[in-house]
Amino acid sequence: MKTATPSEPKADMLGVVLPGNSTTELRSFAMPEPGWGQVLLRMKSSTICGSDIRAIYHEHLGKRPEGYQGVIAGHEPCGQIVKTGPGCRCFAVGDRVIVYHISGCGLCNDCRRGYMISCTSAEYRRAYGWQRDGGMADCLLAEKKDLVHLPDALSYTDGAQVACGFGTAYEGLEKIGICGDAAVLITGLGPVGLAAAALCRKLGARQILGIDVLPGLLQLARDLGLCDEVIPSGPENVAAVRALTAGHGVERAVECSGHPQARATVISATRRWGRIVFLGEGGTVQFQPSADLMHDQKTLYGSWVTSIWRMEELVERLVRWQLFPSSLVTHRFPLERTDEAYALMASGRCGKAAVCFDEELV
Ligand SMILES: NC(=O)c1ccc[n+]([C@@H]2O[C@H](COP(=O)([O-])OP(=O)(O)OC[C@H]3O[C@@H](n4cnc5c(N)ncnc54)[C@H](O)[C@@H]3O)[C@@H](O)[C@H]2O)c1
Ligand SMILES: [Zn+2]
Ligand SMILES: [Zn+2]
Repeated sequence: MKTATPSEPKADMLGVVLPGNSTTELRSFAMPEPGWGQVLLRMKSSTICGSDIRAIYHEHLGKRPEGYQGVIAGHEPCGQIVKTGPGCRCFAVGDRVIVYHISGCGLCNDCRRGYMISCTSAEYRRAYGWQRDGGMADCLLAEKKDLVHLPDALSYTDGAQVACGFGTAYEGLEKIGICGDAAVLITGLGPVGLAAAALCRKLGARQILGIDVLPGLLQLARDLGLCDEVIPSGPENVAAVRALTAGHGVERAVECSGHPQARATVISATRRWGRIVFLGEGGTVQFQPSADLMHDQKTLYGSWVTSIWRMEELVERLVRWQLFPSSLVTHRFPLERTDEAYALMASGRCGKAAVCFDEELV
């Protein structure tokens, strides 16, 4: 949808960087000028991902070129085009767009598959909010090849979450396959886990079980009708899941915490011939490959973000399903209060926190 032509951007803009030590810094930046194949977006919504908290906000994990390079943060951006550079076929001023959050070289095998997240070019792979400026600013400079049109039925805050949280969950679920016969276990009910639960509902899962350590998130998952049963994290989790599934265990499991105990739980609580996907990052896991996985004919997938074509597929399905990711957003902040948004996400006492602009702040 092309809404009223947005006003020309100003000479300067504000943006937020994450210096580490659980701090944020609001700085002034020159307004970027789109070059060939680039667009300038007026930011409308920029949501915070658990990866930001884990790998940039508290401390800077990861080594160059994968490490955070002191740029404007925010890798879940969604906005409206206010200026286009030369060569911008298919996108024009006024268009509402989601940004696939990694700009790849475009030519390696992974980029050609649409999985720029896995781009193998150390020179050209640049994640928005990590190695090039991201969405926590008034405006964002993006490559047209990284954009997906946002359907009219979705808000910018719906779109922002497609970029990482929902896209990641959708990819994982497509890898393991969800059908009407499946009982699904989800460990970690942060935004990725809640997105997985919401998508499992629409994909027709028979029974959705959720585990987290935080009572507030267990309650939220219940209140939103995303999980049929919620279980506080603990040593008896496998027994609890078996008790809720007539002793069998679940057909499918989605690990969204990155915690070693939760990883071991999903492996053990999945029934014979079942499928498991690991989405939570970092940390370790201990299990016995023969006894816990191979002899029960289980399959374990690893999955990293998604492809740009699957992101397009997801936005189409979200509209068809009337599933609005913004329903997971419990708190919205203006750019000037980004510090509060990160601190809240780090506390875990919320659903998803979003930094919003203009009409998305209301
Ligand atoms: N694979 C990918 O492509 C991808 C993409 C985005 C995020 N991630 C990762 O996915 C994870 C989830 O992201 P998020 O934004 O929801 O983060 P989050 O930190 O909000 O969610 C993690 C949740 O796991 C819970 N948890 C911790 N220990 C647990 C345990 N033992 N059992 C059950 N739950 C436990 C936490 O309470 C929290 O609610 C993070 O590790 C993030 O880095 C991966
Ligand atoms: Zn992310
Ligand atoms: Zn590439």
